[in-house]
Amino acid sequence: MDVEIVGRMLATLPTDDDHPYRTGPWRPQHTEWRAEDLEVVSGQIPADLDGVYLRNTENPVHPALRNYHPFDGDAMVHVVGFRDGTAFYRNRFVRTDGFLAEQEAGAPLWAGLAERPSSAIRQDGWGARGRMKDASSTDVIVHGGRALTSFYQCGDLYQVDPLSAQTLGKAGWGGDFPTGWGVSAHPKVDDATGELLFFNYGTEAPYLHYGVVDSADKLVHYVDVELPGPRLPHDMAFTENYAILNDCPMFWDPELISQGKYAARFHRDLPLRIGVLPRRGDSASIRWFEAASTYVLHWVNAYEDGHEIVLDGFFQDDPEPADNGMGDTWARAFRFLALDRMQTRLHRWRLNLVTGQVREERLTESITEFGVINPAVLARPHRYVYAATGKPGWFLFDGLVKHDLRTGAEERFGFGEGVYGSEVAVAPRAGGTGEDDGYLVTLTTSMPDDASYCLVFEAAGVGDGPVCTLRLPERISSGTHATWAPGSALPGWRDADRAESSIGL
Ligand SMILES: [Fe+2]
Repeated sequence: MDVEIVGRMLATLPTDDDHPYRTGPWRPQHTEWRAEDLEVVSGQIPADLDGVYLRNTENPVHPALRNYHPFDGDAMVHVVGFRDGTAFYRNRFVRTDGFLAEQEAGAPLWAGLAERPSSAIRQDGWGARGRMKDASSTDVIVHGGRALTSFYQCGDLYQVDPLSAQTLGKAGWGGDFPTGWGVSAHPKVDDATGELLFFNYGTEAPYLHYGVVDSADKLVHYVDVELPGPRLPHDMAFTENYAILNDCPMFWDPELISQGKYAARFHRDLPLRIGVLPRRGDSASIRWFEAASTYVLHWVNAYEDGHEIVLDGFFQDDPEPADNGMGDTWARAFRFLALDRMQTRLHRWRLNLVTGQVREERLTESITEFGVINPAVLARPHRYVYAATGKPGWFLFDGLVKHDLRTGAEERFGFGEGVYGSEVAVAPRAGGTGEDDGYLVTLTTSMPDDASYCLVFEAAGVGDGPVCTLRLPERISSGTHATWAPGSALPGWRDADRAESSIGL
């Protein structure tokens, strides 16, 4: 392994930190690495694995003003690239405006999720509720050969080189980026058309917008979506012809908003409303379907089936878990992040476009979330969902499950005691034919080894364990959202010296 430190950020976290989401497996790292020819700990790098696995996630460098929430941290993008049976690694902080300002100040300047906006030192800021830092630490996707990082509360999309992980600047969309409203956590890329579909939300009417960016990176569609009030949507879905938005009955208490307080409450008496509109439809063309009350953090996929739209996602039996008195202060504070407390299960909604009716079906009793599919079947019928299992009481992934929705079978792999994974990404085998003909890639944080690894699984044999394990230069923070981009989607992939930028930095 050829390793080099390429950067080290100023960090002001306390040396005796006791925050559970800044210590242990969530201990952030502040060093940026470039590593070639990663050490193969076991197995062999598949020769037909060609492309990059990218993972974002919060990685704080400063303490909060008062109360740190795990969603507040700065963005770090990790890249593991596979080419010709070898692998390389990069990790870089995303240089957002807020990150750079706090590096200069040497201290936090904006209020986090568990703090009142009025406590922010800076008067400006980002996010649907305002006066937050746009950390861009939620998700990472690839559109038009560039990685884009996003912020769950709506912010800029930061362009990142998918090989070097260097920040390239903000998405501009030909000057039409919706500055002020921003873009929410999970914009979607349709590889079939090259389009990017997105939404944003805020506290002012119409409360939601939906838009489309074309393959030339131009904003070509942007419409109001009127809601009854401010909402907190996190994800969307799409089919070949429709975009699917949502109005979940979990939202900031409207009366408190006027006092500058933002308290999310779940309203079990209100339905989940699912909005369907043609992908280039106007505001009037949206149709709302009512379903059983829940909050959906992540959808998995959607497709058209005759007069129906089939929509898979994760139903939460308990979006607002009560304090059961079973834990310490931290456990009570972060019970909303534990999959077992929220009771998240794979679920199917069938929306009948003729009758307006919704049929719902629980697809499994198993508690999983962060489900992904082979990107080749996005917006088309899917059979397999690869999802994470959670360590009880924690926001940590202790294993993965392959759900076979045709047979109901579930194949599991546990990472082991004290080992936590990231969202997996599916890397289809080049020239592959079956839906599970490819690989799953993830990063782990191993407390017993004080190390991190990149694991590669055969998608057809999840339960057999990884076919390849690679060691990263240091133990990285546990994390969540990730993606895969094939080398064929990356400009200069075959020509580029892997140590350099693929897109002309
Ligand atoms: Fe998410």
